[in-house]
Amino acid sequence: MYKLGLGALLLCLTLMVQAQSVVDTHMLNGDCETCHENGEPSINNEVENRACIECHGSVDTLDGPYHQSHSYLMMCSDCHKVHASTPVTDSCMRCHH
Ligand code: HEC
Ligand code: HEC
Ligand code: HEC
Ligand code: HEC
Repeated sequence: MYKLGLGALLLCLTLMVQAQSVVDTHMLNGDCETCHENGEPSINNEVENRACIECHGSVDTLDGPYHQSHSYLMMCSDCHKVHASTPVTDSCMRCHH
């Protein structure tokens, strides 16, 4: 550990500061098949959104300010860009201007 160069140390710190994606946290106790059938993305995200709902419940039962007000309108992946480490609120502007 103490033999790490400064560059490596800075890299570690950078990685620690960087936000994790939702996929990152799900990969800690799972794999790609946690959400994808055979590890491959579906055409319309239906498989993936069904997986979210099986574990978390649907939008109309989830807590949080923006879930129940959007119930039945959308899929989880309309707001949660799970492979991105950007905040979920970045997706609001796709529909609201
Ligand atoms: C928490 C659920 C989840 C996990 C775990 C997950 N994915 Fe995804 N993935 C999604 C969703 C949902 C999409 C649809 C696009 C989006 O909303 O980001 C997607 C999209 C994709 C795409 C399409 C390209 C893109 O980024 O839009 C690929 C390829 C992909 N995933 C591969 C993988 C691989 C490989 C793994 C394992 C290392 C993985 N995924 C793990 C949920 C997941
Ligand atoms: C196999 C069960 C499972 C599936 C499938 C699953 N999750 Fe999760 N998710 C969990 C668990 C367990 C946690 C950690 C405990 C918690 O916060 O509820 C979690 C945490 C989260 C979190 C908060 C922590 C973070 O990473 O930001 C979000 C957001 C989330 N999931 C969204 C999703 C979305 C969107 C999908 C579908 C693309 C999905 N999950 C699919 C089980 C699952
Ligand atoms: C209208 C956009 C939107 C949709 C659709 C949506 N979410 Fe969220 N979700 C959010 C926002 C915004 C947050 C962050 C709330 C906060 O920071 O307090 C969040 C937070 C979460 C969290 C983390 C809660 C925590 O304890 O930190 C989970 C888990 C989650 N969403 C799961 C889902 C699942 C599963 C679906 C689909 C059934 C879904 N979301 C659909 C916007 C959305
Ligand atoms: C896929 C499109 C879409 C996305 C993404 C989306 N919304 Fe919406 N939102 C809607 C629609 C459709 C309605 C219902 C019609 C309306 O009131 O404009 C709505 C309604 C609302 C309302 C009024 C709800 C109420 O209580 O009356 C608020 C506030 C809102 N959205 C905030 C957000 C926020 C914050 C985000 C991001 C976390 C977000 N929306 C993401 C489509 C979207």
